[in-house]
This record gives sequence, C-alpha cells and structure tokens, in this order.
Amino acid sequence: MLCGVGIEWPPSYCEIPIGLAMSGVDPFARLASIYDRVFPRVVPKYDEAVDLMLALLPYGAEARVRLVELGCGTGEVLKRLATAFPQAEIRGVDSSAAMLEVAHKKLSPFAPRVSLLRHDLSQGWPEEVGECEAVLCPYVLEYLAPEAQELLLQGAFRRLKPEGRLLIIEFVQPNEPRISQVFRDLEYRLISGTLARRQLSEEELAILTDLSEKGPRHPLSWSQRVEMLERVGFRRVDTAWRFLNFVLATAARP
Ligand SMILES: C[S@@+](CC[C@H](N)C(=O)[O-])C[C@H]1O[C@@H](n2cnc3c(N)ncnc32)[C@H](O)[C@@H]1O
Repeated sequence: MLCGVGIEWPPSYCEIPIGLAMSGVDPFARLASIYDRVFPRVVPKYDEAVDLMLALLPYGAEARVRLVELGCGTGEVLKRLATAFPQAEIRGVDSSAAMLEVAHKKLSPFAPRVSLLRHDLSQGWPEEVGECEAVLCPYVLEYLAPEAQELLLQGAFRRLKPEGRLLIIEFVQPNEPRISQVFRDLEYRLISGTLARRQLSEEELAILTDLSEKGPRHPLSWSQRVEMLERVGFRRVDTAWRFLNFVLATAARP
C-alpha cells in the first residue's frame, strides 16, 4: 500500500494512508514543517538526552533487534536509531499525519527496515506492532492522560521480550517549585536567543506557543512514574539522566 508520498511500505505498517485526517484536530500539524529546525534549539538539552537514550540500548551495532518509537514525530530519533543500528528493524508510531509525512520523506533511504504506523496512542498499544526488544518514548507520554499512559505501558510490557528495555524522556512535575521556575527562565532565554539570531520567526514562535497552550499536557512526578512502571511490572526502574524538569528513565521487563 502506498502511504501517499510514493514509497511502498509493508502493508501492516501503513494501515491508514498518511494524509487522511484522523478524527479531531491535530495540535502538531503546524509544528511539523519547523520541528527539526526549531525543537532542538528551544528544548533544553534535546540532543544530549536523545544521544544518551540511544547509548542506553544494550545492543551492539550489528544487533538484529526490533525497536519501536512511540510518538516518533518527524522521525529524527528513528533516523538516529537506523544509523546507529544498521541491522535493526525499527517502527515509528504517531497520530499526526503532518509529522509522519515529514518522517516518511526523511526515512525513505531506510525503507522498508524502518516503517511508520499512524495510530492514536491514547487508545493503547497498536496491535499491528509485534514483539520487540526495546520501546522508546521520547517527549510523548505527557501528551496522554495518566490512565492512557498506563494502558500504553501495559501494552509495551506485553510486547517487550524478556530483558526488553523501555526508555522514556519526559517532562516531570518536580516537588520543588523552584526547579520549574529555573526551567521556565532557561526556556525563555533559549527562545529569546533563537529569536535574536533570527533562527526563529515570530510566526514560528506563535506556533510553539499555540501548541503549549492547546496541546494538553499531563506530566507526572518522578515518584508517580516509578509507581506506574512498577505497577505495570517493569523492574530496575531508574533515572539515567535528569536536567531540571526533564528525566530520561530506563526500565526493564523481567
Ligand atoms: C514533541 S513530539 C516528539 C517527537 C519525537 N519523539 C522526538 O523526540 O523528536 C511529540 C509527538 O507525539 C505525538 N503524539 C502526541 N499525542 C499522541 C497520541 N495520542 N498518539 C500518537 N502520537 C501522539 C505528536 O504527534 C508528536 O509527533
């Protein structure tokens, strides 16, 4: 089946042709075309966190593992995964047609080893995605209500092989309010600097502001995240890295 941009993808990973609207408004639609240029500049330590997440995958470069990214957006993390693990089979899942369309173009050199699925993660794990060695959730879980996060993590637990890894980068709610204040100040400085260097226009800033106002966010505290992961059955839950409100979490399926 064709996904709308001229590349043949395995049918099971293109159930819904990219370009058709899913129900509801897509808060990420306007962000898609500027995401790769803007997001790493305005999100504190984006590259550092993503690099560490990949380094935490306990596989050699030639491993024939199956990796899944939930909320893959424009495919930036998928591209880095495909480069770091040239034998891996990699699947990206996202609900935004606009984000997936950017990902689809970017990842065509890696097809069909890297494939995309359009799916609303608030409905749980996509049944089309089978057993895998690792599930990555960078910057996505906080967009789901806590009950939906737990349902999704239960699905990930079911599909992970024994000793499989779950890796999450997320925005957490700190117990100490000053952490959030310092984070907001830093974000403000990053955005002001990016504007001053003309790497971000006023229109693009309006898109980012609109998303942060409209895109519902449900950040958990770190202790809530640990409790949720352990309730689902994950073990060896740990923070590999933390910077103010951002946490890189790692957990294993026994
Ligand atoms: C901030 S972006 C992160 C993209 C990518 N993981 C990265 O690290 O660059 C969040 C992504 O989550 C996706 N997303 C948000 N809610 C979703 C949902 N309910 N189902 C599927 N994807 C969702 C958005 O479409 C968007 O592409």
